[in-house]
Amino acid sequence: MKLNIENALRFVNQNEYTEMCKKAQEKLTVLNTGTGEGNDFLGWIDLPNSYSDEDIEDIQNVADRMRKLDCVVIIGIGGSYLGAKATIEALKPHFEKMGTEIIFAGHTLSGNYHAELIDYLSDKQFGIVVISKSGTTTEPAVAFRLLYAEMQKRFDKETIRDRIVVITDEKKGALRTLCDKEGFDDFIIADNVGGRFSVLSPVGLLPIAIAGFDIEEMLHGASMAQDICLEDNVKNPAIQYAAIRNMLYNDGKKVELMVNYNPRLKYFAEWWKQLYGESEGKNHKGLFPASVSYTTDLHSLGQFVQDGSPILFENVLWVNDDSDAPVVPHDDENLDKLNYLEGKNMEYINSKAAEGTMNAHVAGNVPNIRIEMDTVDEYNLGFLMYFFEIACGISAYILNVNPFNQPGVEAYKKEMFRLLGKE
Ligand code: PA5
Repeated sequence: MKLNIENALRFVNQNEYTEMCKKAQEKLTVLNTGTGEGNDFLGWIDLPNSYSDEDIEDIQNVADRMRKLDCVVIIGIGGSYLGAKATIEALKPHFEKMGTEIIFAGHTLSGNYHAELIDYLSDKQFGIVVISKSGTTTEPAVAFRLLYAEMQKRFDKETIRDRIVVITDEKKGALRTLCDKEGFDDFIIADNVGGRFSVLSPVGLLPIAIAGFDIEEMLHGASMAQDICLEDNVKNPAIQYAAIRNMLYNDGKKVELMVNYNPRLKYFAEWWKQLYGESEGKNHKGLFPASVSYTTDLHSLGQFVQDGSPILFENVLWVNDDSDAPVVPHDDENLDKLNYLEGKNMEYINSKAAEGTMNAHVAGNVPNIRIEMDTVDEYNLGFLMYFFEIACGISAYILNVNPFNQPGVEAYKKEMFRLLGKE
């Protein structure tokens, strides 16, 4: 992974940036030594190297069993599904179906979504992985109740036991009680790992393994990132990223746009949005994390980015891989006037669109951060996710907020429960 902040640095005062880097280094120490707010939620820092061979084998064995089914429904919301969804969407082919189908549920209360899902599953051999740390979150709990009832209509107890896996707290929550009563296979979400920092725990690893991807490579990438991102050094990319985004925030930028030029990374941005939005958006502070897919969205939001309220900066995730890009063919008639692109591959054209967009946006007062990776694979995703997690912890501490709680999420729940008549 290569972080390039040149086109953001030119918008800030260099001395102030140096000071901000020093502050970021101090905050990294606070994170590393567990002396900051929310320090009982730092278990994720050591996740990359926390697995024994037996732990990996346990995950892989359950995954292999589930992979024999037609499809597996992953039930969860927020941090209990976004890491897996982001990784699977980034790694799976755009069109071709591969192996066991992975379906997500419990991340929406849409009746229509779940009605169609029940219908779709009615002639399939399906399994369920239900993920909820608290074990009481309404969206996944309702979805699980619906799909569990469907299973009970069609399969005997033993088959059901083979097809349901629970990932929840070791001791508490309704899901724990049900899991213990029915004897389902389970994995534990450690007390000190919060939802949005749990992608490298079984919360992310089991669904990713069921989808057929290499979880050891992902942990390997994360472990490399751990070596680099915990270093108390101004060259540490997590320090630089945390520092520059806080500089831009202090200078009036209020929205950070994560940009991709590859639809595979659309859900990666969703994962990142939750990580930063829920960790930093507190006490009336924080950058609003948003995302766009270019060049698609240049034809819808490009106008605003270039010319609208000057509150944005961009964070471009660029992938260098052009190995399978088709080449523009020659056309004798050249009616579309595209022969000037003859022999060029699509990724080359994409890269020039990215370069041109950056030049135009930077000239339009939109600072640009660029993160490059060679290819989208398990190793690089593991690396990138760990990098963003560490940078998030540092960045939230710079803002002076606790990165690991989410008190604001309770307000909607309280109101919803009142309207639903929950006692
Ligand atoms: O990051 C978080 O802590 C949240 O987004 C949770 O992951 C989300 O609310 C789901 O919670 P739970 O896993 O308890 O069902």
